[in-house]
Amino acid sequence: FSNAKFSDAVLAWFDHAGRKHLPWQQAVTPYRVWVSEIMLQQTQVSTVLPYFQRFMASFPTLADLARAPIDEVLHHWTGLGYYARGRNLHKAAQLSCERYAGALPDTLDALMALPGIGRSTAGAILALGFGQRAVILDGNVKRVLARHQALAGDPAKAAVSKAFWALANALTPTQRCADYTQAMMDLGATLCTRSKPACSRCPVQTSCMAYAQGEPTRYPEKQRK
Ligand code: ADE
Repeated sequence: FSNAKFSDAVLAWFDHAGRKHLPWQQAVTPYRVWVSEIMLQQTQVSTVLPYFQRFMASFPTLADLARAPIDEVLHHWTGLGYYARGRNLHKAAQLSCERYAGALPDTLDALMALPGIGRSTAGAILALGFGQRAVILDGNVKRVLARHQALAGDPAKAAVSKAFWALANALTPTQRCADYTQAMMDLGATLCTRSKPACSRCPVQTSCMAYAQGEPTRYPEKQRK
């Protein structure tokens, strides 16, 4: 097992099995990636699809979103839940327009200074929207990494989280970072699922430590209550 072998296998799998036709993967802009990532934070892809399309039809650019009345923005959120996401999106669009002349910023620190954007979402915007090498660690990616390396401990704990980020960083390639990022999300969402992982179809099964141990669903470990 090497870091390069891991990302090569993940990328080869992405080429034949990854999702490449989601609406936010077409006409890619940082703005479209950002809106999609916020919608996808607590909501599955199939639910997000029509919301994303309606949102983009009404607010095609960051400036359109920034100057829209909040009620209109929240109206587009009806049924998605977690309305704070919609409020933060609107606020962040306004701040971004003020601070960065109508564009989203392209650094981790500036993105994370906007409401609703955590470290992983900032990484996804940089990788998918700006084509930078950046690292993500959302729930899906945590699960893939925890199993592949048999990483013990609850990733909600600070010390464990630090180890996960270090690992995620070490595995993220410099080439094709956007494809790798999408691939890791897809791997976690479609194969390395919470309760019934499809290990037989996994591109990194042969180096997966949890698979070798025979009980992949043991990872990631949850804190004992
Ligand atoms: N979940 C979070 N981000 C995603 C993306 N870009 N594609 C599919 N599912 C996701």
